[in-house]
Amino acid sequence: MVEPETLSHPELSPPSPAWRPGDPRPDVASMLRVDQAGEYGATRIYAGQLAVLGDGQPASRLIARMASQEQRHLRSFDALLAERGVRPTLLQPLWSVAGHMLGAATALLSPQAAMACTAAVEDEIDKHYGEQLAALGAEEPALAATIGEFQADEREHRDRALEAGAEESFGYPLLYSAIRAGCRVAIELSKRI
Ligand SMILES: [Fe+2]
Ligand SMILES: [Fe+2]
Repeated sequence: MVEPETLSHPELSPPSPAWRPGDPRPDVASMLRVDQAGEYGATRIYAGQLAVLGDGQPASRLIARMASQEQRHLRSFDALLAERGVRPTLLQPLWSVAGHMLGAATALLSPQAAMACTAAVEDEIDKHYGEQLAALGAEEPALAATIGEFQADEREHRDRALEAGAEESFGYPLLYSAIRAGCRVAIELSKRI
């Protein structure tokens, strides 16, 4: 029988996991994992929209351009995961299906609903990248520069989607809030799993 006093003896306690400046940050792996998941999800949403709209709609050109930027973002995070030995989220197969379904469903509603989807997703991602930049502060300057650049692209996607009539979609406030809420859930899950 071990006395409780023995367990609490400082010499027998596990080493402190305290993080010190200069150590690799323990939260960066989680940041890279969720960012790679988000960019992957974005490529799946746009693939779903293009599968429904084809390339003949006025919205298709804009969606194809945004999709190619998401591919570039995804390639960067794929490379960062490989470089740092971070595994991707185990939920990738789920985001593949959920992203494609969200893209296809919104495009089936209307091209404006497809734009509403982009406005909602990009507002959530803009906030998410902003929080990561605040958490990084002056550390990891190269990663922060990448995130800052992608955040600017995401804001531009949101602005183009609003110009293309996102807010004219049927039931916009509800659609917008539901998609943002879904993104928040996906972000929290991808940080952890
Ligand atoms: Fe992106
Ligand atoms: Fe985007």
